[in-house]
Amino acid sequence: MKRLIDLPPHPNGWFRVCESDELTVGQVEPKHYMGHDLVLFRTESGKVRVLDAFCPHLGAHLGHGGKVEGEDIRCPFHAWKFDSETGELNEVPYAKKMPPKKACINTWPVCEVNGIVFVWYDSEGRPPSWDIPEVPEINSGEYTDPIKKTFVIKAHPQEMAENLVDPAHFKYIHGNDTVPPAEAEADGHILKGKIDLTYTTPRGDVEGYVDVSAYGFGFGRTLFTGVVDTIVVITGTVVEDFKQEVVIRFYVKKMGDEGAEQAVAQAFTDEVSKQFLEDQPIWENKTYWHKPQLCDGDGSIAVFRRWSKQFYPEGSLQ
Ligand code: FES
Ligand SMILES: [Fe+2]
Repeated sequence: MKRLIDLPPHPNGWFRVCESDELTVGQVEPKHYMGHDLVLFRTESGKVRVLDAFCPHLGAHLGHGGKVEGEDIRCPFHAWKFDSETGELNEVPYAKKMPPKKACINTWPVCEVNGIVFVWYDSEGRPPSWDIPEVPEINSGEYTDPIKKTFVIKAHPQEMAENLVDPAHFKYIHGNDTVPPAEAEADGHILKGKIDLTYTTPRGDVEGYVDVSAYGFGFGRTLFTGVVDTIVVITGTVVEDFKQEVVIRFYVKKMGDEGAEQAVAQAFTDEVSKQFLEDQPIWENKTYWHKPQLCDGDGSIAVFRRWSKQFYPEGSLQ
C-alpha cells in the first residue's frame, strides 16, 4: 500500500518567513515557502513587505538584485518600479506611456512580532482573521536572548502538531517513565494544552507543568515551569508539499548566573533535538487516517482533529 497523506498540503494561517534581525532596512531576499517564490524586503520606513517574486514585465525575480527605493521596489531587469504596499506599477523609466493594463504584483499580508516575520496564507485568498500575540515574557527583560535551532522535516504540519496531544508516544518514543496526564481544549484558532509533571531533583520532587498554546500550525508558545522557567517559541512553515521548516527558540528566565542559564538552554535544546530525531522516522513514514482507531488513553487527539479542520477549505477533511 502506498503512503498516503490525504490532507491539503498548505493549511491556512500565519507562517514565519524570516527572523526580524535577518532583514535590515533596504535588504532584499529571495525565499520559497508554501510552494511560492517570494521576495522579502524592508522598506526605508522599516516595514517588511512580502510579494510574489516574479516581475509582471518579463519575469525577473525581484529577490535577485531588486532594489528598495523609499517604500517601493525596483526590478533589476528593466527598472520598473512597484509600490510595495499595493504591488502596483508606478514607474517605467524608459516608457513614454505606461502599459495600458496596469501591471501589479501580488502582495502578502505580513506581521512582525516576537522578533519574527510572518506572512498570512489563505488558500481562498481571504484576509487575516486573527493575530499572532506578543509573548510578554520574552519582551520583559527577564529572559535570556533566544538560542535557536532549525529542523527540516518531511511531514505535514498537522501530523507534527498532533504530537502535542498524544501522551502515549512520550513513553514509547521518547522514553518517559509514564504516560503524562494531558488535557487540551480548543479556543477558536488557539489550541491550549497542559501537562502536569514532577521533576526529580537533588532537593526532592518539584511539581511543575508544561503549558502549550498553538495558534494554527505556524506558531506555538510553550511555558515550562517547575525547576527553571523556560519559554519555547516554535514556528513551522511549509516549504513544499510535505516538507516543513521548523525553528525552535529557547528563552530561559534569568537567574543572575549566565553560566547556569546557558546550561539550562543547552539542556532544553539537546532534549528537543533528541525528541525530534526520535519522532522524525515516524512523521516521515506514517500515513494519515481521517478516522483513526482511538482508545481512552489517547488524550485529546479527537479535540485536536476537530480544531484542525478550521485551517482548510470547508469539507476538505472528513
Ligand atoms: S522584468 Fe522586471 S522590469 Fe523587465
Ligand atoms: Fe514527540
